[in-house]
Amino acid sequence: MAGITDVAYRTLCREQAAAAVPSGHPGLFVCEMITSRGLVEGDATTKSMLAFDEGESVRSVQLYGTDPGHLGEATKILCGEYGVDHVDLNFGCPVPKVTRKGGGAALPWKRNLLAAILRSVIAAAAPYGVPVTMKTRKGIDEDHLTFLEAGRIAGDTGAAAIALHGRTAMQGYSGEADWSSIAELVEATDIPVLGNGDIWEAGDALRMVERTGVAGVVVGRGCLGRPWLFRDLATAFASDTVRTQLPRLGEVTATMRRHAELLVRYQGEERGCKEFRKHVSWYLKGFRAGGELRHALALVNTLSELDTLLGELDPDESFPVTELGRPRGRQGAPRRSVVLPEGWLADRDDLASVAPEEIGETSGG
Ligand SMILES: Cc1cc2nc3c(=O)[nH]c(=O)nc-3n(C[C@H](O)[C@H](O)[C@H](O)COP(=O)(O)O)c2cc1C
Repeated sequence: MAGITDVAYRTLCREQAAAAVPSGHPGLFVCEMITSRGLVEGDATTKSMLAFDEGESVRSVQLYGTDPGHLGEATKILCGEYGVDHVDLNFGCPVPKVTRKGGGAALPWKRNLLAAILRSVIAAAAPYGVPVTMKTRKGIDEDHLTFLEAGRIAGDTGAAAIALHGRTAMQGYSGEADWSSIAELVEATDIPVLGNGDIWEAGDALRMVERTGVAGVVVGRGCLGRPWLFRDLATAFASDTVRTQLPRLGEVTATMRRHAELLVRYQGEERGCKEFRKHVSWYLKGFRAGGELRHALALVNTLSELDTLLGELDPDESFPVTELGRPRGRQGAPRRSVVLPEGWLADRDDLASVAPEEIGETSGG
């Protein structure tokens, strides 16, 4: 997730999962999306996002772009220079500045372009033995669904798996994800399907597997301020049982401290603490912490300031169970329309209006 799954947060989430299943696989933790243009043109911010922890034995990166050549070149750089072990392609972003250029969730409508991108990236990754996957949505809107054809193209071109978010671009993040579309894709596709949408608790993950037959699940907003979700998920997948271990506030503050510490390790104290601020309200959602303290935490500048402020919270306060199973992060309402290049829907094979992505695109999915 753009702006969330940097090296610090991936490390924290992996630590949580690994502690739950020391001998099992903790899961795959994907780096924030980076743009192919940023990488090919040597953009400093893009390069700085490609940081990996020494314990990160599987380096997984999501690439975003609209040009097959650029994406292939970027893949070569990722595999050859950054030792990346898995490349995922983003065809799910719904934000207007991305779909306006024909990127993200708009792109699979142009089926030949989707195939050309997959072919180029898969060919570039092949000499390194690196698997390529893609992530997409159901389609642009209910009248312009693309997921079944995308699944066929992914299979035909040699993608290792396809992840489906059960919403259209029009729906944004609103309402409930349509898991039946995920089941439909599983039925229609030969390659493994990963299901995405509304995994708030480990129980949701097991339910999605049971109902749809997916090979795995992709976690989005459910992990915001809740890295311990991965410990519940790892336990659930290792044992087929759900054991939700609810952290008391003391454990939450210790986890917050660890998160901030990791950010500071990778970004320095000033930038790390600034970056940490956005996570505070997610961590404290539903706890009793007062407005003034929350406000001060959202302005924190140093780790010692953070320690003082976290010390004011009651470590014994129990986890607010009312928050369990509830949506968190962005939700909003369905869009009135999906912004697309002129004439986009009229011809599925005309690529004249596809534009290159912004180098620093950070919108995500
Ligand atoms: C802040 C934020 C950033 C995101 N960034 C990305 C991204 O870079 N790539 C991507 O494929 N999806 C991204 N997503 C979408 C999620 O991966 C996921 O598909 C979506 O939230 C639906 O899953 P959920 O209902 O479990 O949240 C992002 C979502 C959020 C809330």
